[in-house]
Amino acid sequence: MKIILLGCPGAGKGTQAEGLVKKYGLTHLSTGDLFRAEIAKGSPLGQKVQDYMKRGTLVPDEVVVEVVAAKLDDISGGWLLDGFPRTLPQAQALDGYLKSNQVKIDAVLYLAMEEDTVVSRLSGRRSCAKCKAVYNVATKPPKTEGKCDGCGGDLMQREDDKEATIRKRMMVFNDLTQPLVTFYKTECPFHEVDGSGSPGEVGEKLFAILDKVQETQKA
Ligand code: AP5
Repeated sequence: MKIILLGCPGAGKGTQAEGLVKKYGLTHLSTGDLFRAEIAKGSPLGQKVQDYMKRGTLVPDEVVVEVVAAKLDDISGGWLLDGFPRTLPQAQALDGYLKSNQVKIDAVLYLAMEEDTVVSRLSGRRSCAKCKAVYNVATKPPKTEGKCDGCGGDLMQREDDKEATIRKRMMVFNDLTQPLVTFYKTECPFHEVDGSGSPGEVGEKLFAILDKVQETQKA
């Protein structure tokens, strides 16, 4: 399956992607994770994108599109896109890429969320510096404060998870990414899910949608 996971910052895209890629055997392509890994390596791409990410603004479309197209070329089976596309030009570029490769999107999953819930979620997010596991001081605390349950690594707060930057990211989302909801409602099989339930509740709703997509494909 080819899936796009849409949602504002903190909607739970990364959290849900983990379960979805496992259950349906998909490759997870998160542009945010990819850029953070490049920044950590100090690569030329990392240096190019780090100021945009720190400020909560978007990396230029041409940079993102080139990186994603190269990654998609390397994936042989199904995939799930998380954090891409994020602007209309990115969606149009993806559309062109898919058409030229005769590939269709099976589902666009949109996690709908209220801004205030998102700010409190993101302020509480902590990620393991070593294995990248994601925690939340309010909803998913580690057993030992500041340490990863899995590998014992230090838990860090993302630089763009400070309240002022979160608000900026939400503004950017409302201006540039929200219009994709209208775009995909007309272009692809589109499913809106309330992202405010527990991770398990949201996950069950997404599984139910994708199970149906799979059944239809088999029929
Ligand atoms: P990116 O890394 O994609 O960040 P984002 O879209 O802002 O999304 P987040 O990772 O903040 O949130 P999420 O929805 O994954 O939530 P999560 O599951 O972690 O992008 C970062 C930056 O990179 C951008 O600002 C931009 O600069 C650049 N960039 C990336 N892609 C780009 C593109 N295509 N074009 C241009 N620039 C791009 O959950 C958040 C927290 O909530 C966690 O603590 C989690 O434990 C908790 N949580 C999750 N679900 C629940 C739940 N149901 N109930 C309670 N708590 C929950």
